[in-house]
Amino acid sequence: MGDAPSQPEKMPHAVCIPYPAQGHVTPMMKLAKLLRFYGFRITFVNTHFNHKRLLRSGAVVPSEAADPGFRFESIPDGLPPSETDATQDVPSLCHSISKHALLPFLDLLRRFNTDSGDAPPVSCIVSDGSMSFTLDAARELRIPEVVLRTSSACGFMGYLHYQHLIDRGLTPLKHESDITNGFLDTPIDWVPGMKNMRLRDFPSFIRTTDRDDIMLNYCNRQAQRSTLAAAVIFNTFDELEGPVLEAMAAILPPMYTVGPLSLLLQHHQIPDALASLRSNLWKEESGCLEWLDGRAPGSVVYVNFGSITVMSYEQLVEFAWGLVDSEYEFLWVIRPDLVQGHAPALPVEFLEKTRERGMLASWCPQEEVLGHAAVGGFLTHSGWNSTLESIVGGVPMLSWPFFSEQQTNCRYACTEWGNGMEIDNNVRREEVEGLIRKLMGNGEKGREMRRRAAGWKEAAERAAQPGGSSFLNLARLVDLLRDF
Ligand code: UDX
Repeated sequence: MGDAPSQPEKMPHAVCIPYPAQGHVTPMMKLAKLLRFYGFRITFVNTHFNHKRLLRSGAVVPSEAADPGFRFESIPDGLPPSETDATQDVPSLCHSISKHALLPFLDLLRRFNTDSGDAPPVSCIVSDGSMSFTLDAARELRIPEVVLRTSSACGFMGYLHYQHLIDRGLTPLKHESDITNGFLDTPIDWVPGMKNMRLRDFPSFIRTTDRDDIMLNYCNRQAQRSTLAAAVIFNTFDELEGPVLEAMAAILPPMYTVGPLSLLLQHHQIPDALASLRSNLWKEESGCLEWLDGRAPGSVVYVNFGSITVMSYEQLVEFAWGLVDSEYEFLWVIRPDLVQGHAPALPVEFLEKTRERGMLASWCPQEEVLGHAAVGGFLTHSGWNSTLESIVGGVPMLSWPFFSEQQTNCRYACTEWGNGMEIDNNVRREEVEGLIRKLMGNGEKGREMRRRAAGWKEAAERAAQPGGSSFLNLARLVDLLRDF
């Protein structure tokens, strides 16, 4: 392991607590593994609901069987108990967590700080920035806390400016019709470090007419409260988001850009027991990588809308025919709860076509898929993890943003990074077909996007290798956490 004390009682003890959703658990797990590598004792705190899911999916094994320095604990999320694998309703979860999680979290911390067991007292909390009740626990018990913001820096800058948008009367919207009448195209040129932004490119929760909207208020408050932490960590890298990071440095406590975390893990000699811990809430379907092995380099469109996106059956069918009509081969991951209110049964004619040139799955090892030579383009919802994984794989994107800061990520991919194109929210098969042909084909746009995607892949690698900005920032972060 890294340069660190080996006696358990002398180890610094970091309690890592992610927001309970896939796109948050995964980067927190990666950061926790890196801290463990550098000699921290780790307690990883999931909700009961997600802990059971991680056990069911085989991502983790019960604590007793794993690395004794990396333990799991869980606390209730306050929602009614459930044994399903369905994505939890986000507003209900946010509301419930902020009301019910503080006391069990405090109990857990107190238990560590009084127990005479092998766990040393907690020396720092590494909390998801969307779990700001942890700051109250940290203050009460006088434990230093840093927060991990799992979105892009540009997306987080959007959240940080929610209050400004409210103060300027731009959100809540005055009328429902503002969503479609062009109001969202209002240019926003006053956010430091952000260019080419329109109101529609801000994280999606501004699209409400309700001043009491749970998500608008929750995200606004969580963003403001991140400024109270001792430091803010981002899973991004300086070259990708330089201007916005520079502007944010004037608002936030010390910042540490340590992305892509997946590449940092590759540049450390992580022991097997630690490396084998995964974070997928769904069981991965085998066969995707083998199917890709039989395909030509750059020939396959990979389609995946992440862990939370839902769409109508009509939208699913438009995507299906757009894919088939493009005549490219495709790997399409359809989560069991992707289509609201329906089991996502696709038209029989589509399934027949799929047998010729496609593969369908319900959950896949996405990082490996995006790193596979056969994948030439990614039809995505622009979640930040998916975006970064696409950058790491050097794969250009076609984006259909669903919610939260996916809109901002999509805007940056299209206008700043040059590795993305957007599909209209009102998805039509002809547009899907045309854009896939552009993405995958040898026309000017396709070649340019591939060139830009390859450039960002190299930049990500430069940041994460020894001596690179993210590698060095991780070392600085480790020093900070050890000094606490
Ligand atoms: C998104 C946003 O990214 C997040 O910041 C926001 O707060 C909530 O919505 P999500 O839909 O989970 O989250 O997308 P993404 O950030 O891309 O994360 C999905 C993760 O699941 C990725 O790491 C991806 O590799 C993984 N995944 C997804 C798989 O491993 N297999 C799959 O089949 C699908």
